[in-house]
Amino acid sequence: MHRAELEADVVARLRAAGCVFAAEEAALLLSEAASDADANAMVTRRVSGEPLEYVLGWAAFAGLRVAVGPPVFVPRRRSELLVREAVAVVRSHAGAAPIVVDLCCGSGAIGAAILAAEPGVRLHVSDIDAAAVDFARRNLDRTGAAVHLGDLYDPLPPELRSRVDVVVANVPYVPSAEIALMPSEARGYEARRTLDGGPDGLDIVRRTATGAARWLRPGGSLLIEIGTGQIDSATALFLTSGLKPRIVADDELSATIVVGESRNDQ
Ligand SMILES: C[S@@+](CC[C@H](N)C(=O)[O-])C[C@H]1O[C@@H](n2cnc3c(N)ncnc32)[C@H](O)[C@@H]1O
Repeated sequence: MHRAELEADVVARLRAAGCVFAAEEAALLLSEAASDADANAMVTRRVSGEPLEYVLGWAAFAGLRVAVGPPVFVPRRRSELLVREAVAVVRSHAGAAPIVVDLCCGSGAIGAAILAAEPGVRLHVSDIDAAAVDFARRNLDRTGAAVHLGDLYDPLPPELRSRVDVVVANVPYVPSAEIALMPSEARGYEARRTLDGGPDGLDIVRRTATGAARWLRPGGSLLIEIGTGQIDSATALFLTSGLKPRIVADDELSATIVVGESRNDQ
Protein backbone atom coordinates (compact mmCIF):
# COMPACT_ATOMS: atom_id res chain seq x y z
CA MET A 1 0.00 0.00 0.00
CA HIS A 2 1.24 3.53 -0.76
CA ARG A 3 2.02 5.70 2.23
CA ALA A 4 -0.87 8.13 1.56
CA GLU A 5 -3.32 5.23 1.17
CA LEU A 6 -2.03 3.55 4.31
CA GLU A 7 -2.26 6.78 6.27
CA ALA A 8 -5.84 7.41 5.11
CA ASP A 9 -6.78 3.85 6.07
CA VAL A 10 -5.23 4.18 9.54
CA VAL A 11 -6.91 7.54 10.17
CA ALA A 12 -10.27 6.04 9.14
CA ARG A 13 -9.83 3.03 11.46
CA LEU A 14 -8.81 5.21 14.39
CA ARG A 15 -11.64 7.64 13.78
CA ALA A 16 -14.17 4.80 13.59
CA ALA A 17 -12.88 3.54 16.94
CA GLY A 18 -13.54 6.97 18.47
CA CYS A 19 -9.99 8.38 18.60
CA VAL A 20 -10.38 12.14 18.84
CA PHE A 21 -6.89 12.92 17.50
CA ALA A 22 -6.96 10.28 14.75
CA ALA A 23 -4.69 12.14 12.29
CA GLU A 24 -2.04 12.89 14.91
CA GLU A 25 -2.13 9.34 16.28
CA ALA A 26 -1.90 7.87 12.79
CA ALA A 27 1.23 9.93 12.07
CA LEU A 28 2.83 8.78 15.33
CA LEU A 29 1.95 5.11 14.84
CA LEU A 30 3.21 5.10 11.26
CA SER A 31 6.44 6.82 12.26
CA GLU A 32 7.15 3.95 14.69
CA ALA A 33 6.00 1.04 12.49
CA ALA A 34 8.76 -0.97 10.83
CA SER A 35 6.47 -2.33 8.07
CA ASP A 36 2.85 -2.30 6.87
CA ALA A 37 2.22 -5.47 8.90
CA ASP A 38 3.69 -3.82 11.95
CA ALA A 39 1.51 -0.74 11.38
CA ASN A 40 -1.55 -2.95 11.10
CA ALA A 41 -0.73 -4.74 14.37
CA MET A 42 -0.18 -1.43 16.16
CA VAL A 43 -3.45 0.04 14.91
CA THR A 44 -5.30 -3.13 15.95
CA ARG A 45 -3.96 -2.73 19.48
CA ARG A 46 -4.90 0.95 19.55
CA VAL A 47 -8.45 0.47 18.26
CA SER A 48 -8.97 -2.24 20.88
CA GLY A 49 -8.50 0.54 23.46
CA GLU A 50 -4.88 0.10 24.51
CA PRO A 51 -3.25 3.43 25.49
CA LEU A 52 -1.38 5.04 22.60
CA GLU A 53 1.78 5.26 24.70
CA TYR A 54 1.87 1.49 25.29
CA VAL A 55 1.49 0.87 21.56
CA LEU A 56 4.24 3.35 20.72
CA GLY A 57 6.44 2.17 23.58
CA TRP A 58 7.03 5.71 24.81
CA ALA A 59 5.29 8.74 26.29
CA ALA A 60 6.12 12.39 25.74
CA PHE A 61 6.80 14.04 29.09
CA ALA A 62 8.40 17.42 29.82
CA GLY A 63 10.20 17.42 26.49
CA LEU A 64 11.50 13.87 26.92
CA ARG A 65 10.55 10.55 25.34
CA VAL A 66 10.03 8.19 28.25
CA ALA A 67 9.88 4.42 27.62
CA VAL A 68 6.66 2.87 28.96
CA GLY A 69 4.78 -0.39 28.63
CA PRO A 70 2.02 -2.34 30.35
CA PRO A 71 1.15 -2.25 33.23
CA VAL A 72 3.35 0.69 34.20
CA PHE A 73 1.74 4.10 34.80
CA VAL A 74 1.81 6.38 31.74
CA PRO A 75 3.22 9.72 32.93
CA ARG A 76 0.59 12.47 32.71
CA ARG A 77 1.25 15.96 31.47
CA ARG A 78 -0.18 17.40 34.68
CA SER A 79 2.81 15.99 36.59
CA GLU A 80 5.04 18.48 34.77
CA LEU A 81 3.94 20.86 37.54
CA LEU A 82 5.78 18.65 40.05
CA VAL A 83 8.89 18.81 37.86
CA ARG A 84 8.68 22.60 37.51
CA GLU A 85 8.26 23.16 41.25
CA ALA A 86 10.92 20.63 42.25
CA VAL A 87 13.41 22.31 39.91
CA ALA A 88 12.46 25.72 41.34
CA VAL A 89 13.00 24.46 44.91
CA VAL A 90 16.36 22.92 43.99
CA ARG A 91 17.47 26.16 42.33
CA SER A 92 16.24 28.38 45.16
CA HIS A 93 17.79 26.74 48.13
CA ALA A 94 19.73 23.57 47.66
CA GLY A 95 23.53 23.65 47.74
CA ALA A 96 25.92 21.95 45.33
CA ALA A 97 24.91 18.45 44.16
CA PRO A 98 21.48 18.44 45.84
CA ILE A 99 19.94 15.08 46.70
CA VAL A 100 16.54 14.50 45.11
CA VAL A 101 14.34 11.42 45.64
CA ASP A 102 11.53 10.54 43.20
CA LEU A 103 9.30 8.27 45.27
CA CYS A 104 6.75 5.97 43.57
CA CYS A 105 8.71 6.72 40.41
CA GLY A 106 6.90 4.44 37.93
CA SER A 107 8.81 4.79 34.65
CA GLY A 108 11.11 7.36 36.29
CA ALA A 109 9.68 10.18 34.15
CA ILE A 110 9.62 12.83 36.89
CA GLY A 111 13.15 12.11 38.08
CA ALA A 112 14.44 12.00 34.50
CA ALA A 113 12.87 15.39 33.74
CA ILE A 114 14.35 16.95 36.89
CA LEU A 115 17.76 15.58 35.98
CA ALA A 116 17.44 16.92 32.42
CA ALA A 117 16.78 20.40 33.84
CA GLU A 118 19.35 20.14 36.65
CA PRO A 119 22.11 17.69 35.70
CA GLY A 120 23.99 18.34 38.95
CA VAL A 121 21.29 16.66 41.04
CA ARG A 122 22.08 13.35 42.80
CA LEU A 123 18.92 11.43 41.99
CA HIS A 124 17.44 8.38 43.72
CA VAL A 125 14.17 6.89 42.47
CA SER A 126 12.14 4.02 43.89
CA ASP A 127 8.98 2.04 43.25
CA ILE A 128 7.37 -1.08 44.69
CA ASP A 129 6.65 -2.57 41.27
CA ALA A 130 9.41 -4.55 39.53
CA ALA A 131 8.11 -3.70 36.02
CA ALA A 132 8.16 0.01 36.86
CA VAL A 133 11.69 -0.24 38.20
CA ASP A 134 12.81 -1.97 34.98
CA PHE A 135 11.45 0.93 32.93
CA ALA A 136 13.00 3.46 35.31
CA ARG A 137 16.38 1.74 34.86
CA ARG A 138 16.02 2.07 31.09
CA ASN A 139 14.94 5.70 31.25
CA LEU A 140 17.72 6.65 33.66
CA ASP A 141 20.43 4.56 32.06
CA ARG A 142 23.82 6.29 32.07
CA THR A 143 22.55 9.26 34.07
CA GLY A 144 24.18 8.17 37.32
CA ALA A 145 20.77 7.97 39.06
CA ALA A 146 20.22 5.16 41.57
CA VAL A 147 17.08 3.07 41.02
CA HIS A 148 15.61 1.12 43.97
CA LEU A 149 12.86 -1.48 44.32
CA GLY A 150 10.68 -1.52 47.44
CA ASP A 151 8.02 0.07 49.60
CA LEU A 152 8.25 3.90 49.71
CA TYR A 153 11.42 4.95 51.59
CA ASP A 154 12.46 1.41 52.66
CA PRO A 155 14.93 0.70 49.83
CA LEU A 156 16.77 4.05 50.07
CA PRO A 157 20.36 3.92 51.31
CA PRO A 158 20.37 4.66 55.08
CA GLU A 159 23.11 7.26 54.63
CA LEU A 160 20.53 9.54 52.96
CA ARG A 161 18.64 9.96 56.26
CA SER A 162 18.20 13.64 57.17
CA ARG A 163 20.18 14.64 54.07
CA VAL A 164 17.62 14.72 51.25
CA ASP A 165 16.93 18.17 49.76
CA VAL A 166 13.78 17.30 47.84
CA VAL A 167 11.36 14.36 47.85
CA VAL A 168 9.03 14.51 44.87
CA ALA A 169 6.18 12.02 44.64
CA ASN A 170 3.32 11.33 42.30
CA VAL A 171 1.78 8.54 44.36
CA PRO A 172 -1.55 6.75 43.75
CA TYR A 173 -4.20 9.20 45.02
CA VAL A 174 -7.51 8.14 43.46
CA PRO A 175 -10.08 7.10 46.10
CA SER A 176 -10.81 3.36 45.62
CA ALA A 177 -14.49 3.93 44.82
CA GLU A 178 -13.59 6.35 42.01
CA ILE A 179 -11.38 3.93 40.06
CA ALA A 180 -14.47 2.55 38.31
CA LEU A 181 -15.24 6.05 37.00
CA MET A 182 -11.83 6.48 35.35
CA PRO A 183 -11.37 6.17 31.56
CA SER A 184 -11.01 2.53 30.50
CA GLU A 185 -7.54 3.31 29.10
CA ALA A 186 -6.37 3.82 32.69
CA ARG A 187 -8.37 1.32 34.72
CA GLY A 188 -8.20 -1.41 32.06
CA TYR A 189 -4.46 -1.30 31.39
CA GLU A 190 -2.48 0.39 34.16
CA ALA A 191 -1.95 -1.71 37.29
CA ARG A 192 -4.52 -0.91 39.98
CA ARG A 193 -1.68 -0.27 42.41
CA THR A 194 -0.59 2.72 40.27
CA LEU A 195 -3.94 4.46 40.84
CA ASP A 196 -5.65 3.27 44.03
CA GLY A 197 -5.00 5.50 47.03
CA GLY A 198 -7.38 3.72 49.43
CA PRO A 199 -10.74 4.89 50.82
CA ASP A 200 -10.01 8.65 50.75
CA GLY A 201 -7.21 8.39 48.18
CA LEU A 202 -4.65 9.53 50.73
CA ASP A 203 -3.25 6.25 52.13
CA ILE A 204 0.10 6.59 50.34
CA VAL A 205 0.17 10.40 50.58
CA ARG A 206 -0.21 9.99 54.36
CA ARG A 207 2.62 7.45 54.62
CA THR A 208 4.84 9.56 52.35
CA ALA A 209 4.31 12.71 54.45
CA THR A 210 4.81 10.87 57.75
CA GLY A 211 8.01 9.25 56.51
CA ALA A 212 9.51 12.44 55.11
CA ALA A 213 10.75 13.77 58.47
CA ARG A 214 13.25 10.94 58.69
CA TRP A 215 14.78 11.63 55.25
CA LEU A 216 14.55 15.37 54.59
CA ARG A 217 17.28 17.68 55.79
CA PRO A 218 16.01 20.60 57.90
CA GLY A 219 14.55 23.04 55.36
CA GLY A 220 14.19 20.26 52.74
CA SER A 221 10.93 19.92 50.83
CA LEU A 222 8.35 17.27 50.02
CA LEU A 223 6.23 17.81 46.88
CA ILE A 224 3.18 15.61 46.23
CA GLU A 225 0.53 15.72 43.51
CA ILE A 226 -3.05 15.55 44.81
CA GLY A 227 -6.62 15.95 43.59
CA THR A 228 -8.37 19.31 44.06
CA GLY A 229 -10.79 17.71 46.53
CA GLN A 230 -7.88 16.64 48.73
CA ILE A 231 -6.37 20.07 49.45
CA ASP A 232 -7.72 20.48 53.00
CA SER A 233 -6.91 16.93 54.12
CA ALA A 234 -3.43 16.99 52.56
CA THR A 235 -2.67 20.38 54.13
CA ALA A 236 -3.71 19.07 57.56
CA LEU A 237 -1.64 15.94 57.29
CA PHE A 238 1.45 17.87 56.13
CA LEU A 239 1.10 20.06 59.24
CA THR A 240 0.87 17.03 61.53
CA SER A 241 3.92 15.57 59.78
CA GLY A 242 6.03 18.65 60.66
CA LEU A 243 5.92 20.12 57.15
CA LYS A 244 4.96 23.75 56.44
CA PRO A 245 2.51 23.37 53.53
CA ARG A 246 1.68 25.53 50.55
CA ILE A 247 -0.55 24.65 47.62
CA VAL A 248 0.51 25.21 44.01
CA ALA A 249 -2.07 24.83 41.24
CA ASP A 250 -1.93 25.15 37.47
CA ASP A 251 -5.29 25.44 35.70
CA GLU A 252 -3.88 24.80 32.25
CA LEU A 253 -2.36 21.50 33.39
CA SER A 254 -5.33 20.74 35.72
CA ALA A 255 -2.72 20.05 38.34
CA THR A 256 -2.54 20.60 42.09
CA ILE A 257 0.41 19.87 44.30
CA VAL A 258 1.21 20.37 47.95
CA VAL A 259 4.71 21.48 48.82
CA GLY A 260 5.85 21.06 52.41
CA GLU A 261 9.03 22.45 53.89
CA SER A 262 10.59 20.52 56.72
CA ARG A 263 10.88 22.75 59.75
CA ASN A 264 14.41 23.74 60.69
CA ASP A 265 13.97 22.69 64.31
CA GLN A 266 13.62 18.96 63.53
C1 LIG B 1 0.44 7.35 39.91
S1 LIG B 1 1.77 6.23 39.58
C2 LIG B 1 3.01 7.47 39.26
C3 LIG B 1 4.26 6.97 38.61
C4 LIG B 1 5.25 8.10 38.28
N1 LIG B 1 5.59 8.85 39.48
C5 LIG B 1 4.69 9.01 37.23
O1 LIG B 1 4.18 10.09 37.57
O2 LIG B 1 4.74 8.64 36.04
C6 LIG B 1 2.12 5.67 41.22
C7 LIG B 1 3.30 4.70 41.36
O3 LIG B 1 3.38 4.35 42.75
C8 LIG B 1 3.84 3.02 42.85
N2 LIG B 1 3.51 2.56 44.21
C9 LIG B 1 2.29 2.22 44.71
N3 LIG B 1 2.39 1.88 46.01
C10 LIG B 1 3.71 2.00 46.33
C11 LIG B 1 4.45 1.80 47.54
N4 LIG B 1 3.85 1.41 48.68
N5 LIG B 1 5.78 2.01 47.52
C12 LIG B 1 6.40 2.42 46.37
N6 LIG B 1 5.75 2.62 45.20
C13 LIG B 1 4.42 2.43 45.18
C14 LIG B 1 3.14 2.30 41.73
O4 LIG B 1 3.79 1.10 41.39
C15 LIG B 1 3.20 3.38 40.61
O5 LIG B 1 4.32 3.19 39.80
